[in-house]
Amino acid sequence: MKEEIRLDINEKIHRISVSPYKPLRDVLRYDLCLTGTKESCDTGVCGVCTILIGDKAVKSCLVPVGKVVGEKITTIEGISNEEEFSLLQQSFIDCFASQCGYCIPGFIMASTSLLIENPDPTIQEIREGLSGNLCRCTGYVKIIDAVKRAAEMGVEKI
Ligand code: FES
Ligand code: FES
Repeated sequence: MKEEIRLDINEKIHRISVSPYKPLRDVLRYDLCLTGTKESCDTGVCGVCTILIGDKAVKSCLVPVGKVVGEKITTIEGISNEEEFSLLQQSFIDCFASQCGYCIPGFIMASTSLLIENPDPTIQEIREGLSGNLCRCTGYVKIIDAVKRAAEMGVEKI
């Protein structure tokens, strides 16, 4: 049964009528047209649907939307503006870290959370921090380079 739900997403309040059990990912994509959050496995394995709840990276396919009422939600659309990429996004571009690109929004969101929690991670810590995100194309080396580069440029600019 649908309920009126109020969501705080990318510093904007959305009011929608939806089942509280609907996955947050599907609400983002199909009710709010925030299609930067991708869909694939539906089981929390691939990480393409990663968003932030507060500063924490969360796989939005696993979260019923009713559970995040009152939380501050950030999607890939919320970390940059129309004129400028975020530092991490620019670093992914500069390091050629994206091939087909489908996994990249999830990696950017997981990396953002990682650098907020640990502004100066080792390579091993980056590997562990991104272990919940899968990429079929890149072999991960350039992705890890991009996160390390962004960390060296300063977490306050993420
Ligand atoms: S679609 Fe959510 S983890 Fe794969
Ligand atoms: S760049 Fe293609 S799946 Fe990662």
